[in-house]
Amino acid sequence: MAACATGFILNNNVLIVAGSLVGASGIILTQIMCKAMNRSLTNVLLGGFGQTVNAAAEDGPAIVIKEVGVEEAAMLFDAASSVIVVPGYGMAVAQAQHVIRELMEQCEKRNIDFKFAIHPVAGRMPGHMNVLLAEANISYDKLIEMESINDEFPSTDLVFVVGANDVVNPAARTNPQSPIYGMPILNADKARTVIVSKRSMGKGYAGVENELFGYPNCLMLFGDAKQTITKVVTEMKDMS
Ligand code: TAP
Repeated sequence: MAACATGFILNNNVLIVAGSLVGASGIILTQIMCKAMNRSLTNVLLGGFGQTVNAAAEDGPAIVIKEVGVEEAAMLFDAASSVIVVPGYGMAVAQAQHVIRELMEQCEKRNIDFKFAIHPVAGRMPGHMNVLLAEANISYDKLIEMESINDEFPSTDLVFVVGANDVVNPAARTNPQSPIYGMPILNADKARTVIVSKRSMGKGYAGVENELFGYPNCLMLFGDAKQTITKVVTEMKDMS
């Protein structure tokens, strides 16, 4: 928009056109992001999102988690007949998309139905996950948008959450005190088994605890996503 205004001052048509196009697409993307987070623009700009908050869940009992090792994780993949991967910001940080394609190849060799659930604000920019997965040559028909895939989670054997946190946090449905309350989320918690790949119990962008990590069907696979998934793929290769 600044470029467009400068174009008027300098009487430069290229700046006016380029500025308006970039400004308009920025406004459209911002609108899509606000809708996906179920928040107004004012709330996004001025709200406390991103800060650590004292939501009700923060004061509740500590979350008791169950860890899973690389070998056990590989066995769970081997035994599954359907897998949904939920990628998030941590996948981008770890640059784990290429090794996830190898994991997909191992699963498809075993005739496992393998797809990706894409939340509209996963990562840090619209389309972030789509771009990274496309870079790893994962075909677009494997990437399913939230509205289309959410009903499939209850009938899915294994959900693999890779560096995602806020976009699978059930507090968005259950905790009115949470800053993410009302944001549509992926129903990963409804799958038969959930494995979460992340480095620690660190929080996501919204700065809130994720009660999913303490659910009875949830197992934590700690470590950098690229390193741990590489080990899982090696285990799976050794099994076959
Ligand atoms: P987040 O909630 O930000 O969580 C990312 C998780 O990745 C962290 O909890 C972190 O846990 C983990 N992580 C970081 N590095 C890792 C690594 N090397 N290996 C494995 N895990 C790693 O991500 P999300 O679920 O994608 O949610 C996106 C958030 O960003 C939403 O709150 C959304 O509203 C916000 N946001 C999105 C956008 C757009 S348009 N996409 C724009 C602005 C804000 P550890 O530290 O424990 O590893």
